[in-house]
Amino acid sequence: MKKIGFGASSAKIIWFGEHSVVYGQPAIALPLPAVEVTAQIETSSESSSQIFSRYYDGDWQQIPAEMNGIKRLSEYVANNLQLPSTTFRLSIDSAIPAERGMGSSAATAVAITRAFFDLAERHLTRSDLLKIADVSEQVTHGNPSGLDAATASAQWPIWYVKNQENTQLPINLPKATMVIADSGVKGKTSVAVNQVKEQLIMNPETKDIIAEMGSVAQQVPAALKANDVVSLGSLMNQNHELLRQLHVSTAQLDLMQAQALKSGALGAKLTGSGLGGCLIAIAPNSRIAQKVADDLLLVGASATWIQPLNQFEKQD
Ligand code: MEV
Repeated sequence: MKKIGFGASSAKIIWFGEHSVVYGQPAIALPLPAVEVTAQIETSSESSSQIFSRYYDGDWQQIPAEMNGIKRLSEYVANNLQLPSTTFRLSIDSAIPAERGMGSSAATAVAITRAFFDLAERHLTRSDLLKIADVSEQVTHGNPSGLDAATASAQWPIWYVKNQENTQLPINLPKATMVIADSGVKGKTSVAVNQVKEQLIMNPETKDIIAEMGSVAQQVPAALKANDVVSLGSLMNQNHELLRQLHVSTAQLDLMQAQALKSGALGAKLTGSGLGGCLIAIAPNSRIAQKVADDLLLVGASATWIQPLNQFEKQD
């Protein structure tokens, strides 16, 4: 067995269909290769395992042993791999802001799992990786759709339906550029998902909003096929409006959405579970994308990223 194992994964954005995906509607999500988390695992002779982490806005810190999913996930993977050493030193270095709808927890789980398999020199299939990341997400988020884990373990945009084999988006992506902007406020997925669940109980018409979000996602493949970035932008605006009706947007996200459109974006929406987190906006070219990103910083975004859409390589 090797003494050190490495693993990596990336952030994700949900392009269409967050929340409605929990109720069986399709969602479309993209990994963000430029925003990465890495995990390094070393066997240790200490009496207990140690976990160190550094998140995008922080310094290195040791995570208390009793804390959360990371320790449980590490034990689960180590036991499943039947590793001889029982104590480890795990270092997580993440450029993904946590609790901002960018899939930090799923990406971290994928990076850790890959690092353990690398340490054990064992081949990791995508389906095993997904199963493990799903277990970890259950601990962190309660009852997730599995979308984050599926995107974190993919290197390409996916079309995702809960409990179904997820697939690579079958269409080439257009020559447009996505801007991602952090509203600077954390939003907890489990809180937002529960809030929507309660709204469904209190107001049965909420299910029409969910169905409409599904129908917005269903229109995306045709817009992609026609290379119709204007329609994609308009579908993003519709998706944002439906998320507002689910009460998961915030005043800051709405302000940023309006600003993105004013600055030249063809569409913009919150991404992820909401109640904080990030906005995504689609721009027709990189010059306008840069202007959108700069203007969003002026209206309070705490960070921005730019991802050209045609930089994904289609896998067969
Ligand atoms: C996932 O990042 C956000 C939600 O769609 C919840 C889920 O898919 O489990 C809101």
